[in-house]
Amino acid sequence: MTVSDLPKIELHMHLEGAAPPAFIRGLAKEKNTDLAGIFDENGAYKYKDFWDFLKVYEAATSVLKSPQDYYRLTRAVLEESAASNVIYTESFLAPDFCGGGDVAAWQDYLAAIKQAADEMEREAGIVMRAIPTCVRHFGPDQAKQTALCAAETVGDFVTGFGMGGDEAMGKQNDFKYAFDMAREAGLRLTSHAGEWGGPESVRDAIRDLKVERIGHGVRAIEDLALVDEIAEAGIVLEVCPGSNVALGVYPKWSDHPIAELRKRGVKVTVSTDDPPFFHSTMRYEFDRLAETFGWEEADFLELNKAALDAAFCDEATRGAVAKKLEPADA
Ligand code: ADE
Ligand code: ZN
Repeated sequence: MTVSDLPKIELHMHLEGAAPPAFIRGLAKEKNTDLAGIFDENGAYKYKDFWDFLKVYEAATSVLKSPQDYYRLTRAVLEESAASNVIYTESFLAPDFCGGGDVAAWQDYLAAIKQAADEMEREAGIVMRAIPTCVRHFGPDQAKQTALCAAETVGDFVTGFGMGGDEAMGKQNDFKYAFDMAREAGLRLTSHAGEWGGPESVRDAIRDLKVERIGHGVRAIEDLALVDEIAEAGIVLEVCPGSNVALGVYPKWSDHPIAELRKRGVKVTVSTDDPPFFHSTMRYEFDRLAETFGWEEADFLELNKAALDAAFCDEATRGAVAKKLEPADA
């Protein structure tokens, strides 16, 4: 057995960003939409940099037009995750793409996504929870609408609220209203920060949005006092090393700060973000981490435990998933 065979907990994956390119090509064909420009000669997604990635991502998402499309997407994505032996996954969903932020339309999309997730739990044993996210470059007003969608559907399946998108647009604090609304509805909070923004973006997210997890957060390493604060406060980082290397936040795996953050006492977890965009899977992430930092089974068990402790799910779910993480001979 290698570490990539271990069961895995994933906290940071965008459902639309996990769409297999062949699936998106198939939908484009069904809908007579020309998306040829977003694929390379091997059929993979093609983009030049992070900002181009966001455009290609939104172009790919444009063919997801109905709850049925999202039902099929959810099944396709969870099949890929289950093939990496992911046993619990939290998926970011953008109500902006699921009915344009309209609450009733979002409820229809969500019902289809949940149906697919329930089926995959029965068929493949993978448990999914949903985290509606606002898109930062769509602005704070749109984010309020997204938060309303999330607040109206909080429950066993929709358990968190988050923010992705272009970190260069505005400040975390511009989205305080949306995050306050989500918190008051009982949702748990995470926000992308310290990916393209520096340590101040991470500070802002913790102070202004009062998140308990940070999407990425890796650039906190540029301010060691902040690293100590994160470690002390028990804030969890949803680290996506393959994404960071593919998008050029760090030139190569050995430059990635995940091992240093962990050494300094930060609770780090490992996720894929948008796996096909980065030629990644959870197996790939585990293998590269083992190869780059010499991590062994015990290290990955610790990562998995940190992720499950930080998962936005109820205690019965956490307990059931924990049983599946235990080594077979324990
Ligand atoms: N949305 C999807 N992937 C993202 C990323 N890596 N950063 C910000 N927003 C995203
Ligand atoms: Zn992300």
